[in-house]
Amino acid sequence: MSIVDLRHPPGYHSAMGRLVMVSNRVPSAADLDPENRGAGAVGGLVSAVRASLVETGGMWVGWSGRASPRRSPAHRAVSRTPGPVELATIDLTADESSLFYTGFSNRTLWPLLHSFIERMQIRHDTYRAYRRVNRRYAQALSATLSEGDVVWIHDYHLFSVAHELRRMGWKGKIGFFLHTPFPAADVFSVLPWAGELLASMLAYDLIGVHTRRYLLNLVDAFGVELGGDWNGFSFAYGGSASRLGVFPIGIDPQAFRKAALACRESLPRMLGLPPDEKIIIGVDRLDYTKGIPHRLQAFSTMLDHHRDLRGAVTFVQISNPSRARVPEYVREREAVERLTGRINGRYSEGSWVPVRYLYRNFSQETLAAFYRDAHVNMVTPLRDGMNLIAKEFVASQVADPGVLVLSSLAGAAAELTDAVIVNPFDVDGSASSLYKALSMPARERRSRWERMSRVVESRTASWWSRSFTEQLLATAERSGYTLS
Ligand code: G6P
Repeated sequence: MSIVDLRHPPGYHSAMGRLVMVSNRVPSAADLDPENRGAGAVGGLVSAVRASLVETGGMWVGWSGRASPRRSPAHRAVSRTPGPVELATIDLTADESSLFYTGFSNRTLWPLLHSFIERMQIRHDTYRAYRRVNRRYAQALSATLSEGDVVWIHDYHLFSVAHELRRMGWKGKIGFFLHTPFPAADVFSVLPWAGELLASMLAYDLIGVHTRRYLLNLVDAFGVELGGDWNGFSFAYGGSASRLGVFPIGIDPQAFRKAALACRESLPRMLGLPPDEKIIIGVDRLDYTKGIPHRLQAFSTMLDHHRDLRGAVTFVQISNPSRARVPEYVREREAVERLTGRINGRYSEGSWVPVRYLYRNFSQETLAAFYRDAHVNMVTPLRDGMNLIAKEFVASQVADPGVLVLSSLAGAAAELTDAVIVNPFDVDGSASSLYKALSMPARERRSRWERMSRVVESRTASWWSRSFTEQLLATAERSGYTLS
């Protein structure tokens, strides 16, 4: 029998207490309502954690998104919204939000983990704020945890929360999942606090990543920074040991299939496109890791090489506003808008506009309808932990299936091997692959899609969450954790 039994009361697995998820980004209480499919666009973490918690129940702890004045009572309080999934949030101060969130999380760790070291900022004050806010998260947790709870911390904002919780005396299970890539050890070692952060991670019982490549990189970084021993399952160092595992994250495919069948919105209608026009779609948070300019260049190169496609294909780029206070994101937005203008200026003819650029969020239902209507989905990040858009596109193909063009540098490429795989840095190569995708015969489209669909249907968000929690419960009682 499986250790995790979903027939038990909300939030309780047969062999475990309440599941307590912790992530910096949380949805609003309204978006946690199972009937409300949410505004989408918040990133892979929130959509997968939401899908699994709605099924099992439990508690979700994170940042309210508010910055409260320093030392106000609100700054210490944990605000709780009860429900099958209880939401518990803390406020940050304006300083914490700027140093911990915008600074260390988004301008240091995010570029580092995606191997963009030239974009990485190194500042001691942001690192100190990061450690302080991780301590605040641990304090908020201590105030809300009960014996038997199982704690699952998510993503790079919160690497050292378990270390702080252990210092406060918490002995229960704590798992950690990294939603981004983990880079090569040589890259991670550029961070002055690489060893310190890695040592603090050994307070977790289980550390999960999306792919085997990230796991090998992490083990290598532990070895380079700390020494210690790896036995193929666990990493041991200085009296502590953590289990490591690969858990590729998934989606709720049924929700997309249902929406694609039911949603009356239509991309050609919304854009006023002729019914026989081919549509290529890209959907991303507006982030420099997503490779949007490279993708637009590949489209433009294809129009150069295949004049017959002019007037016959439209590229729809949906960019969800993201981290708009971070200067690198402001510049990326400007670059994408300039390039869109240049391509449209160069190729537009009559009423045909080659690139339709939409800088806003769409609901999950509407996106499912857009994926259904597109002939090709270009998911071509320069580096990406998993990328759930690729899986959402596959799940939404309810009629004649479209083609997925997927970056070899997205975690999803390890699973969706039947996509048309491209190297996003190779613009000419991507242009030829895009042409191949647009002209692929129906038989090949269908057989590739069927194989990808089997992966998406079996490795769902709920499978991901269940495999992780089962493995977490199966970890040995920890004999100790040496605090550094
Ligand atoms: C990625 C990260 C998540 C993050 C999301 C949105 O998916 O892995 O941790 O929540 O982006 O970014 P934001 O900064 O808005 O939380």
